[in-house]
Amino acid sequence: MLAERPPMGWNSWNTFGKEINELLIRETADAMVSEGYRDAGYEYVIIDDCWSLKERVDGKLVPDPALFPGGMEALSEYIHSRGLKFGMYSCAGFKTCAGYPSSYGHEFEDAKQFAAWGVDYLKYDYCNFPNSANTKNAYLTMAAALRCSGRDILFAACNWGEKEPSRWMRSHGAHTYRSTGDIFDVPKSYIDIFESQLGNVEGNAPGCFNDMDMLVCGMRGRGNVGLGGCTDDQYLQHFAMWALMGSPLIIGTDIRNADGPTKSILQNPGLIAINQDEECRPPFTLRQQFQSKEACTLVKLLKGNRLALGLFNLRQDSEDDITFVVSLDDLGIHSESGKALHLTDAVTGEDMGEVKDGLHLRLASQKTKVLLGEIVDG
Ligand code: GLA
Repeated sequence: MLAERPPMGWNSWNTFGKEINELLIRETADAMVSEGYRDAGYEYVIIDDCWSLKERVDGKLVPDPALFPGGMEALSEYIHSRGLKFGMYSCAGFKTCAGYPSSYGHEFEDAKQFAAWGVDYLKYDYCNFPNSANTKNAYLTMAAALRCSGRDILFAACNWGEKEPSRWMRSHGAHTYRSTGDIFDVPKSYIDIFESQLGNVEGNAPGCFNDMDMLVCGMRGRGNVGLGGCTDDQYLQHFAMWALMGSPLIIGTDIRNADGPTKSILQNPGLIAINQDEECRPPFTLRQQFQSKEACTLVKLLKGNRLALGLFNLRQDSEDDITFVVSLDDLGIHSESGKALHLTDAVTGEDMGEVKDGLHLRLASQKTKVLLGEIVDG
């Protein structure tokens, strides 16, 4: 089954935009292995927009030979030989967002071409979409084309949340669907995306996931979508949000040169395990009673008698701490049940002991705490 869990990988767009080539992709595949990303669970190496010639040749999409002299089949073999999977990009309109030929009216032949190149994942964008065409049908058509291509190709639909995709993308064949406009490397961007999707993840389940866009962790203001950059606390917050929300985890930074803090965030085993939990349950929200937008608590039930709690201080400008209060009752554990919650810090692995009534936790601005709870006899 494709997308049994939220897909994990790397995509060229956030850092490199148009500046892509074969060497970059090969070196990234190498870094996925040598820097530990593959072992941490990352699988797909995805080339985004700008890979082809500006026109079709004999009706076909052709990789730009100046950028990809060895061709896509050889690149795909290289990626596969590293134990990874190969992703590519097209678009549902006449041209891609950067003005390259795209798949409107060519869906079946393009899908066959991607399959022949050994592609395992197709990101399918929404620029230059004809006014007269039907959005749902366009995504359904590419889903059908991929299903008929003779290869298992994960269909990563990307229509930026237009026409409420959480209501129809699963039924129309997508394995993931982008639910927002593009992310940028500033805290406001990931926080706005997070806020906007809190009510839109109930449909997440094996086979189809809400994609909140590629991660900006570690970009530090550099690259194609790099603006002001974020602090380490903010990159951790962003990653923890995506992990708990069940979003695909698609890295956007240059992993050939990622620094230590970035690597330890992107490869944090506790957060990845929460994202990849077998049951793939979406989280529910406990809004802190005294806040509207500055604090958020997420609860994600995990397989068995476990759950994950994410506490987020979303204040970016003020220094003020926030005290988070979560009662066991909020988690469905009533005091008469005789149960307690055994807590572990999911990020550090620190054992935090048992709580019987609930917890009070002070967090400074930008700080995040993710706790793993196991329901035990009290
Ligand atoms: C859109 C998408 C981005 C990226 C660019 C490429 O903006 O949302 O993720 O794929 O197109 O041009």
